[in-house]
Amino acid sequence: MSLQAGLSFEQAPPFSLPLRFFLTAPLFLLTAAILIVWAPETLASRWSPQALALTHALTLGFLAMVMLGALMPMLPVVAGATLPAARLVAWFSHVPLTLGTAALITGFLTAEPAAYGTGIALLAGGFATFILAAAISLARAVSGVTVVGIRFAVTCLGITILLGLVLTLLRAGWWAPPAIEAALSAHAAFGLLGWVGLLIMSVAYQVVPMFQITPPYPPQLSRWLVAVLFLLLLLHAAAPLFFPAASYLIDTALASGILVFSLTTLRLLSQRRRKLPDVTLDFWRLAMASLITCILVWLPAQFFPAWAASNIYPLLLGVLFIGGFAVSVVNGMLYKIVPFLAWFHLQAQLQARAGSIPTMKEMISGRGMRWQFRLHLTANALLVTATWRPELVILAGLLLALSALLLWVNLLSAAHLFFNRGGRFF
Ligand code: HEM
Repeated sequence: MSLQAGLSFEQAPPFSLPLRFFLTAPLFLLTAAILIVWAPETLASRWSPQALALTHALTLGFLAMVMLGALMPMLPVVAGATLPAARLVAWFSHVPLTLGTAALITGFLTAEPAAYGTGIALLAGGFATFILAAAISLARAVSGVTVVGIRFAVTCLGITILLGLVLTLLRAGWWAPPAIEAALSAHAAFGLLGWVGLLIMSVAYQVVPMFQITPPYPPQLSRWLVAVLFLLLLLHAAAPLFFPAASYLIDTALASGILVFSLTTLRLLSQRRRKLPDVTLDFWRLAMASLITCILVWLPAQFFPAWAASNIYPLLLGVLFIGGFAVSVVNGMLYKIVPFLAWFHLQAQLQARAGSIPTMKEMISGRGMRWQFRLHLTANALLVTATWRPELVILAGLLLALSALLLWVNLLSAAHLFFNRGGRFF
């Protein structure tokens, strides 16, 4: 199915709805970079307030921001079902997500209960609005591997948010829930592996073959992998409380599933039919290489307790998974989604014939995207090295800031071109 064939103009939400999410996200990437430069000790311990602020600037401010924005036009394409009341949902999820993330970051940095309280209220409201609308849309959807995967991912998002709210009550000193360690580990696992990981996998089944012109994923893999990983995540969360002896086995199965996905994706990318250079391909390759490196970092921790208990181990995993894998995929996807939506809405609004409007390739300068990829790659390589060579942290943060700014400028240029050629945002 081509995107164009799958998205009819009547079903598509106005361009301004997803665009506001896409143009806000790079500003949180910039915030993350500023946090690193301003407090280089951020990368000294996973528990420092700065590290938690950084984690959520990236996971909520950048990743969730783009992923919610992308689901709006994607649901009609892959599921054949629009979001109900899309305009209201966009307002009541984008504004609270933006302000709520800013408040939560302020809460981590200042330990101010009022900031935590504001963060909890806004994030709970914003996510509840979006999840409810997505649930209605997904309930009406035509089932397929991507739809099933999105259902699991959104379920993981709901669990992550609930656990995040509980953990914030704890941080703010308002409540001390039982089994805190297990709740924290489940929050991180459902957030990173469930919401982020399963959503990327489910969407990859659709977009890798379509945008990179590769053969499809093997049907056995696309049919089962996400469901099996979801089940393993439930077991992973329950294991510390009920069957700790099985943890090792469950985690090994989770890592194996992730490895199968990344190796399969790399193999498909090597078999693509169009051999022209494409920067989004490099983002996918970097992402898969980072995911495989995560497993290489995780594996020795199973045999050497000193490595597992070291300060570097969780930081390295975090940088590789969040920065190297998730931010790379999402950044690369933005370079497909934004030009596509700009082109699609221009064509539909102006009833234009092909040729009279810019092509997808002309929407963002190829050089601009290539430079941004280089900055992103170097910033990530330096961040990885900085987990044991702290003197590199500031340089890494500065490059990340430049990368975020250039991403923003690149996306703005597509929006500008759309507007200049007579496109209407509403
Ligand atoms: C949806 C995406 C989210 C993801 C991927 C995510 C991820 C994470 C991760 C990985 C950690 C652990 C850091 C570490 O172990 O070093 C963490 C901790 C935490 N998260 Fe989130 N999070 C998300 C959403 C939220 C939300 C919405 C809230 C609050 C409303 C929240 C509140 C917290 C708190 C308070 C902690 C620290 C707990 C403590 O140590 O006191 N998170 N999160």
